[in-house]
Amino acid sequence: MNTRNQIKISFPAISINERVSRAVVSAFLVQVDPTVEELADIRTAVSEAVTNSIVHGYRKSEGNVDLQIKILENREVYIRIKDRGCGIEDIKKAMEPLYTTAPEEERAGLGFAVMQSFMDKLHVRSKVGEGTTVIMRKKLGDNQCQTK
Ligand SMILES: Nc1ncnc2c1ncn2[C@@H]1O[C@H](COP(=O)(O)OP(=O)(O)OP(=O)(O)O)[C@@H](O)[C@H]1O
Ligand SMILES: [Mg+2]
Repeated sequence: MNTRNQIKISFPAISINERVSRAVVSAFLVQVDPTVEELADIRTAVSEAVTNSIVHGYRKSEGNVDLQIKILENREVYIRIKDRGCGIEDIKKAMEPLYTTAPEEERAGLGFAVMQSFMDKLHVRSKVGEGTTVIMRKKLGDNQCQTK
């Protein structure tokens, strides 16, 4: 599918950059005029994926997180979040609701479940020792009722 516009940013895996990534998503998607709800869903999904890269991927190391946002034809939003951290051993298990490897930090194990329910598609690629890539897509509605 053709890309109408895109942005790529890379930032160090430090917690303030979770907020920065949400702000970048909002700023970039202004051009497709999403509804308040659509934007909130996408921001939350991005926040979960970026937080995972920061707290799990780079738990014992430092590195960068890459965020790519594309606007495809048909008002489809494509988002890729990539880290080069520790990777995930068993992706299927990691994606099960309530599964977490950090219960002592009071993590709920719901990040992937949130991404899954707020976005139309979620794809996770990961290799132990190499890192994790999360790809998500969401098709926006026509949004003709929204006042400009
Ligand atoms: N980028 C990543 N790198 C390494 N491991 C990851 C990454 N993302 C997720 N994981 C693993 O998958 C598990 C499940 O992730 P998920 O986001 O669903 O829950 P959580 O982060 O543990 O808790 P919550 O998101 O509710 O705070 C994590 O506990 C972690 O073990
Ligand atoms: Mg999480």
